[in-house]
Amino acid sequence: MKIEGKEYRAFWFENNTVKFIDQRKLPYNFEIYTAKTVDDIAFAIKDMIVRGAPAIGAAAAYGMVLGKGKTHETANKLSKTRPTAYDLFYAIDYMEGEINKGKNPIDAANNYVEDVIDRCKNRGKNGEKLIEDGMRILTHCNAGALATVDYGTALAPIRLAHRTGKKLFVYADETRPRCQGLLTSWELMQEGIKHSVIADNAAGYFMKNGEIDMVIVGADRIAKNGDFANKIGTYEKAVLAKENDIPFYVAAPVSTFDKNIEDGSRIKIEERERDELAKINGKTIMPEWIVVKNPAFDVTPSKYVTGYITEKEIVK
Ligand code: MRU
Repeated sequence: MKIEGKEYRAFWFENNTVKFIDQRKLPYNFEIYTAKTVDDIAFAIKDMIVRGAPAIGAAAAYGMVLGKGKTHETANKLSKTRPTAYDLFYAIDYMEGEINKGKNPIDAANNYVEDVIDRCKNRGKNGEKLIEDGMRILTHCNAGALATVDYGTALAPIRLAHRTGKKLFVYADETRPRCQGLLTSWELMQEGIKHSVIADNAAGYFMKNGEIDMVIVGADRIAKNGDFANKIGTYEKAVLAKENDIPFYVAAPVSTFDKNIEDGSRIKIEERERDELAKINGKTIMPEWIVVKNPAFDVTPSKYVTGYITEKEIVK
Protein backbone atom coordinates (compact mmCIF):
# COMPACT_ATOMS: atom_id res chain seq x y z
CA MET A 1 0.00 0.00 0.00
CA LYS A 2 1.15 3.55 -0.70
CA ILE A 3 1.38 5.85 2.30
CA GLU A 4 2.27 9.41 1.48
CA GLY A 5 3.92 8.27 -1.74
CA LYS A 6 5.96 5.44 -0.14
CA GLU A 7 5.23 1.71 -0.53
CA TYR A 8 4.57 -0.11 2.74
CA ARG A 9 3.49 -3.51 3.88
CA ALA A 10 1.65 -4.00 7.19
CA PHE A 11 4.93 -5.47 8.52
CA TRP A 12 8.30 -6.69 7.32
CA PHE A 13 11.39 -8.57 8.49
CA GLU A 14 14.44 -6.38 9.07
CA ASN A 15 17.75 -7.12 10.87
CA ASN A 16 16.37 -10.14 12.69
CA THR A 17 13.35 -8.20 13.96
CA VAL A 18 9.81 -7.73 12.66
CA LYS A 19 8.66 -4.15 12.12
CA PHE A 20 4.91 -3.63 12.36
CA ILE A 21 2.81 -0.59 11.48
CA ASP A 22 1.16 -0.26 14.90
CA GLN A 23 -2.54 -0.61 14.03
CA ARG A 24 -3.59 0.41 17.56
CA LYS A 25 -2.35 3.92 16.80
CA LEU A 26 -3.93 4.42 13.38
CA PRO A 27 -5.44 6.52 11.89
CA TYR A 28 -4.07 9.21 14.23
CA ASN A 29 -0.40 8.26 14.41
CA PHE A 30 1.85 6.28 12.10
CA GLU A 31 4.19 4.41 14.45
CA ILE A 32 6.36 1.34 14.03
CA TYR A 33 6.48 -1.41 16.67
CA THR A 34 9.61 -3.56 16.61
CA ALA A 35 9.29 -7.20 17.69
CA LYS A 36 12.61 -8.75 18.68
CA THR A 37 11.40 -11.95 20.34
CA VAL A 38 8.65 -14.54 20.05
CA ASP A 39 7.00 -12.95 23.10
CA ASP A 40 6.96 -9.61 21.28
CA ILE A 41 5.24 -11.22 18.29
CA ALA A 42 2.72 -12.97 20.56
CA PHE A 43 2.03 -9.62 22.24
CA ALA A 44 1.64 -7.87 18.85
CA ILE A 45 -0.98 -10.42 17.78
CA LYS A 46 -2.84 -10.50 21.10
CA ASP A 47 -2.90 -6.74 21.59
CA MET A 48 -3.88 -6.19 17.93
CA ILE A 49 -0.81 -4.25 16.84
CA VAL A 50 -1.29 -6.61 13.92
CA ARG A 51 -4.72 -8.04 13.17
CA GLY A 52 -6.81 -9.60 10.40
CA ALA A 53 -6.59 -13.33 9.78
CA PRO A 54 -4.02 -13.54 6.92
CA ALA A 55 -1.78 -10.93 8.61
CA ILE A 56 -1.93 -12.77 11.93
CA GLY A 57 -0.81 -15.95 10.11
CA ALA A 58 2.04 -14.18 8.33
CA ALA A 59 3.18 -12.51 11.58
CA ALA A 60 3.23 -15.94 13.24
CA ALA A 61 5.37 -17.25 10.36
CA TYR A 62 7.98 -14.61 11.25
CA GLY A 63 7.47 -15.49 14.92
CA MET A 64 8.56 -19.04 14.07
CA VAL A 65 11.75 -17.56 12.59
CA LEU A 66 12.52 -15.64 15.80
CA GLY A 67 11.90 -18.83 17.79
CA LYS A 68 14.44 -20.89 15.86
CA GLY A 69 15.77 -23.86 17.79
CA LYS A 70 12.55 -23.95 19.85
CA THR A 71 10.04 -24.79 17.13
CA HIS A 72 7.53 -26.71 19.20
CA GLU A 73 7.54 -24.27 22.12
CA THR A 74 7.20 -21.30 19.75
CA ALA A 75 4.33 -22.91 17.85
CA ASN A 76 2.59 -23.58 21.14
CA LYS A 77 3.00 -20.01 22.36
CA LEU A 78 1.85 -18.39 19.12
CA SER A 79 -1.17 -20.67 18.73
CA LYS A 80 -2.51 -19.41 22.08
CA THR A 81 -2.70 -15.75 20.96
CA ARG A 82 -6.03 -15.60 19.10
CA PRO A 83 -8.32 -18.61 18.72
CA THR A 84 -10.66 -17.81 15.81
CA ALA A 85 -8.45 -16.91 12.81
CA TYR A 86 -7.64 -20.19 11.05
CA ASP A 87 -4.75 -18.61 9.13
CA LEU A 88 -2.78 -18.50 12.39
CA PHE A 89 -2.86 -22.29 12.75
CA TYR A 90 -2.38 -22.82 9.02
CA ALA A 91 0.78 -20.68 9.03
CA ILE A 92 2.21 -22.32 12.16
CA ASP A 93 1.61 -25.80 10.67
CA TYR A 94 3.24 -24.73 7.41
CA MET A 95 6.30 -23.37 9.22
CA GLU A 96 6.64 -26.44 11.46
CA GLY A 97 6.49 -28.65 8.36
CA GLU A 98 9.11 -26.64 6.47
CA ILE A 99 11.47 -26.40 9.48
CA ASN A 100 11.14 -30.13 10.14
CA LYS A 101 12.06 -30.74 6.48
CA GLY A 102 15.27 -28.77 7.13
CA LYS A 103 14.28 -25.60 5.29
CA ASN A 104 15.82 -22.32 6.40
CA PRO A 105 13.04 -20.69 8.56
CA ILE A 106 13.44 -17.20 7.08
CA ASP A 107 13.19 -18.55 3.52
CA ALA A 108 10.06 -20.47 4.47
CA ALA A 109 8.49 -17.42 6.14
CA ASN A 110 9.35 -15.13 3.23
CA ASN A 111 7.79 -17.64 0.81
CA TYR A 112 4.70 -17.78 2.99
CA VAL A 113 4.33 -13.98 3.07
CA GLU A 114 4.91 -13.56 -0.69
CA ASP A 115 2.30 -16.25 -1.29
CA VAL A 116 -0.21 -14.45 0.96
CA ILE A 117 0.26 -11.28 -1.10
CA ASP A 118 0.07 -13.06 -4.48
CA ARG A 119 -3.14 -14.72 -3.42
CA CYS A 120 -4.57 -11.33 -2.44
CA LYS A 121 -3.76 -9.97 -5.91
CA ASN A 122 -5.41 -12.93 -7.63
CA ARG A 123 -8.44 -12.74 -5.39
CA GLY A 124 -8.64 -9.06 -6.20
CA LYS A 125 -8.60 -9.80 -9.94
CA ASN A 126 -11.38 -12.37 -9.56
CA GLY A 127 -13.51 -10.16 -7.32
CA GLU A 128 -13.02 -7.05 -9.42
CA LYS A 129 -15.10 -8.63 -12.20
CA LEU A 130 -18.13 -8.60 -9.90
CA ILE A 131 -17.92 -4.85 -9.38
CA GLU A 132 -19.79 -2.68 -11.87
CA ASP A 133 -19.13 0.96 -12.57
CA GLY A 134 -20.98 3.17 -10.10
CA MET A 135 -21.51 0.50 -7.43
CA ARG A 136 -21.90 1.35 -3.77
CA ILE A 137 -20.28 -1.32 -1.64
CA LEU A 138 -20.58 -2.02 2.08
CA THR A 139 -17.70 -3.61 3.96
CA HIS A 140 -17.35 -4.57 7.61
CA CYS A 141 -14.23 -4.40 9.80
CA ASN A 142 -10.89 -3.91 8.04
CA ALA A 143 -10.15 -6.52 5.40
CA GLY A 144 -7.51 -4.48 3.61
CA ALA A 145 -3.74 -4.39 3.27
CA LEU A 146 -3.31 -3.95 7.02
CA ALA A 147 -5.18 -7.22 7.60
CA THR A 148 -3.33 -9.23 4.95
CA VAL A 149 0.21 -7.71 4.71
CA ASP A 150 -0.83 -6.03 1.41
CA TYR A 151 -3.86 -5.55 -0.91
CA GLY A 152 -6.49 -7.15 1.31
CA THR A 153 -9.25 -9.70 1.05
CA ALA A 154 -12.48 -7.66 0.75
CA LEU A 155 -10.58 -4.49 -0.19
CA ALA A 156 -8.47 -6.11 -2.95
CA PRO A 157 -11.34 -6.25 -5.52
CA ILE A 158 -12.36 -2.72 -4.51
CA ARG A 159 -8.77 -1.44 -4.90
CA LEU A 160 -8.42 -3.06 -8.33
CA ALA A 161 -11.84 -1.88 -9.54
CA HIS A 162 -10.86 1.66 -8.57
CA ARG A 163 -7.49 1.33 -10.30
CA THR A 164 -9.20 0.16 -13.52
CA GLY A 165 -11.20 3.38 -13.49
CA LYS A 166 -14.54 2.17 -12.16
CA LYS A 167 -16.37 4.74 -10.06
CA LEU A 168 -17.17 3.39 -6.62
CA PHE A 169 -18.45 4.44 -3.27
CA VAL A 170 -17.63 2.43 -0.16
CA TYR A 171 -19.61 2.35 3.06
CA ALA A 172 -17.21 1.30 5.82
CA ASP A 173 -18.85 0.02 9.01
CA GLU A 174 -17.16 1.62 11.99
CA THR A 175 -17.08 -1.84 13.68
CA ARG A 176 -17.31 -1.41 17.41
CA PRO A 177 -15.63 -1.87 19.73
CA ARG A 178 -12.17 -1.74 18.05
CA CYS A 179 -13.25 0.57 15.21
CA GLN A 180 -11.42 -1.25 12.43
CA GLY A 181 -13.63 0.80 10.05
CA LEU A 182 -11.26 3.68 10.72
CA LEU A 183 -8.40 1.53 9.39
CA THR A 184 -10.47 0.83 6.28
CA SER A 185 -11.12 4.54 5.89
CA TRP A 186 -7.39 5.26 6.28
CA GLU A 187 -6.55 2.75 3.54
CA LEU A 188 -9.29 4.04 1.21
CA MET A 189 -8.10 7.61 1.79
CA GLN A 190 -4.53 6.62 0.78
CA GLU A 191 -5.97 5.02 -2.37
CA GLY A 192 -8.26 7.95 -3.19
CA ILE A 193 -11.45 5.88 -3.01
CA LYS A 194 -14.61 7.79 -2.08
CA HIS A 195 -16.22 6.48 1.07
CA SER A 196 -18.05 7.17 4.33
CA VAL A 197 -17.67 5.53 7.70
CA ILE A 198 -21.05 4.60 9.15
CA ALA A 199 -22.10 3.35 12.59
CA ASP A 200 -22.57 -0.42 12.44
CA ASN A 201 -26.25 -0.10 13.19
CA ALA A 202 -26.77 2.31 10.27
CA ALA A 203 -26.08 -0.38 7.65
CA GLY A 204 -29.72 -1.56 7.56
CA TYR A 205 -30.90 2.01 7.01
CA PHE A 206 -28.69 2.39 3.92
CA MET A 207 -29.63 -1.06 2.59
CA LYS A 208 -33.35 -0.40 2.94
CA ASN A 209 -32.98 3.00 1.23
CA GLY A 210 -31.43 1.32 -1.81
CA GLU A 211 -28.02 2.90 -1.25
CA ILE A 212 -25.96 -0.30 -1.15
CA ASP A 213 -25.51 -2.54 -4.23
CA MET A 214 -23.17 -5.15 -2.82
CA VAL A 215 -21.54 -6.30 0.43
CA ILE A 216 -18.00 -7.70 0.54
CA VAL A 217 -16.46 -8.91 3.80
CA GLY A 218 -13.47 -11.01 4.81
CA ALA A 219 -13.49 -14.12 6.99
CA ASP A 220 -11.53 -15.50 9.92
CA ARG A 221 -12.49 -19.15 9.49
CA ILE A 222 -14.71 -20.93 6.99
CA ALA A 223 -16.18 -24.35 7.76
CA LYS A 224 -16.63 -27.13 5.16
CA ASN A 225 -20.30 -26.21 4.60
CA GLY A 226 -19.42 -22.53 3.98
CA ASP A 227 -20.51 -21.15 7.37
CA PHE A 228 -17.93 -18.57 8.33
CA ALA A 229 -16.71 -16.52 11.28
CA ASN A 230 -15.91 -12.86 10.80
CA LYS A 231 -15.90 -9.70 12.87
CA ILE A 232 -18.84 -9.37 15.24
CA GLY A 233 -21.79 -7.83 13.40
CA THR A 234 -21.15 -9.62 10.09
CA TYR A 235 -24.06 -12.01 10.69
CA GLU A 236 -26.64 -9.25 10.99
CA LYS A 237 -25.27 -7.53 7.85
CA ALA A 238 -25.67 -10.81 5.95
CA VAL A 239 -29.27 -11.29 7.13
CA LEU A 240 -30.11 -7.69 6.21
CA ALA A 241 -28.47 -8.08 2.80
CA LYS A 242 -30.63 -11.14 2.05
CA GLU A 243 -33.76 -9.35 3.25
CA ASN A 244 -32.95 -6.45 0.89
CA ASP A 245 -31.85 -8.62 -2.09
CA ILE A 246 -28.28 -7.34 -1.98
CA PRO A 247 -25.49 -9.73 -3.08
CA PHE A 248 -23.25 -10.69 -0.15
CA TYR A 249 -19.70 -11.89 -0.91
CA VAL A 250 -16.97 -13.32 1.31
CA ALA A 251 -13.39 -12.80 0.10
CA ALA A 252 -10.89 -15.22 1.63
CA PRO A 253 -7.73 -17.23 0.88
CA VAL A 254 -7.48 -21.03 1.04
CA SER A 255 -5.68 -20.62 4.38
CA THR A 256 -8.97 -19.46 5.95
CA PHE A 257 -10.89 -22.62 4.94
CA ASP A 258 -10.78 -25.07 7.83
CA LYS A 259 -11.28 -28.55 6.36
CA ASN A 260 -11.43 -30.07 9.86
CA ILE A 261 -14.84 -28.71 10.76
CA GLU A 262 -18.14 -29.51 9.12
CA ASP A 263 -20.07 -26.39 10.07
CA GLY A 264 -19.88 -23.07 11.88
CA SER A 265 -21.10 -24.42 15.23
CA ARG A 266 -17.56 -25.80 15.76
CA ILE A 267 -15.80 -22.44 15.41
CA LYS A 268 -14.34 -21.12 18.65
CA ILE A 269 -15.30 -17.50 19.16
CA GLU A 270 -12.77 -15.25 20.88
CA GLU A 271 -14.06 -13.32 23.90
CA ARG A 272 -12.07 -10.15 24.46
CA GLU A 273 -11.60 -8.00 27.53
CA ARG A 274 -14.15 -5.67 29.11
CA ASP A 275 -12.04 -2.55 28.58
CA GLU A 276 -12.55 -2.66 24.82
CA LEU A 277 -16.14 -1.59 25.49
CA ALA A 278 -15.74 0.13 28.84
CA LYS A 279 -13.08 2.59 27.67
CA ILE A 280 -12.64 4.88 24.70
CA ASN A 281 -9.12 6.22 24.15
CA GLY A 282 -8.25 5.20 27.70
CA LYS A 283 -11.24 7.09 29.15
CA THR A 284 -13.76 5.03 31.13
CA ILE A 285 -17.26 5.42 29.73
CA MET A 286 -19.20 3.04 32.00
CA PRO A 287 -19.29 2.39 35.73
CA GLU A 288 -17.58 -0.69 37.21
CA TRP A 289 -20.85 -2.48 37.99
CA ILE A 290 -21.83 -2.77 34.34
CA VAL A 291 -21.18 -6.31 33.13
CA VAL A 292 -19.91 -6.48 29.59
CA LYS A 293 -19.88 -9.28 27.05
CA ASN A 294 -17.45 -8.84 24.20
CA PRO A 295 -17.38 -11.59 21.57
CA ALA A 296 -14.95 -10.56 18.81
CA PHE A 297 -16.59 -12.60 16.03
CA ASP A 298 -19.88 -14.15 14.99
CA VAL A 299 -20.75 -16.97 12.63
CA THR A 300 -22.79 -16.40 9.47
CA PRO A 301 -24.56 -19.44 7.97
CA SER A 302 -23.62 -20.16 4.35
CA LYS A 303 -27.22 -19.68 3.18
CA TYR A 304 -26.67 -15.93 3.37
CA VAL A 305 -23.58 -15.96 1.14
CA THR A 306 -23.94 -15.21 -2.59
CA GLY A 307 -20.37 -16.30 -3.29
CA TYR A 308 -16.86 -16.81 -1.93
CA ILE A 309 -14.19 -14.84 -3.74
CA THR A 310 -11.06 -17.00 -3.63
CA GLU A 311 -7.74 -16.66 -5.43
CA LYS A 312 -8.75 -19.56 -7.71
CA GLU A 313 -12.35 -18.74 -8.55
CA ILE A 314 -15.62 -17.37 -7.31
CA VAL A 315 -17.46 -20.17 -5.56
CA LYS A 316 -21.21 -19.66 -5.61
O1 MRU B 1 -10.29 -8.77 15.33
P1 MRU B 1 -9.69 -8.54 13.97
O2 MRU B 1 -9.53 -7.08 13.65
O3 MRU B 1 -8.44 -9.33 13.75
O4 MRU B 1 -10.77 -9.10 12.96
C1 MRU B 1 -10.52 -9.07 11.60
C2 MRU B 1 -11.67 -9.50 10.78
O5 MRU B 1 -12.70 -9.88 11.27
C3 MRU B 1 -11.46 -9.53 9.30
O6 MRU B 1 -12.66 -9.28 8.62
C4 MRU B 1 -10.94 -10.91 8.91
O7 MRU B 1 -9.76 -11.23 9.61
C5 MRU B 1 -10.70 -11.07 7.47
S1 MRU B 1 -9.61 -9.85 6.89
C6 MRU B 1 -8.57 -10.12 5.98
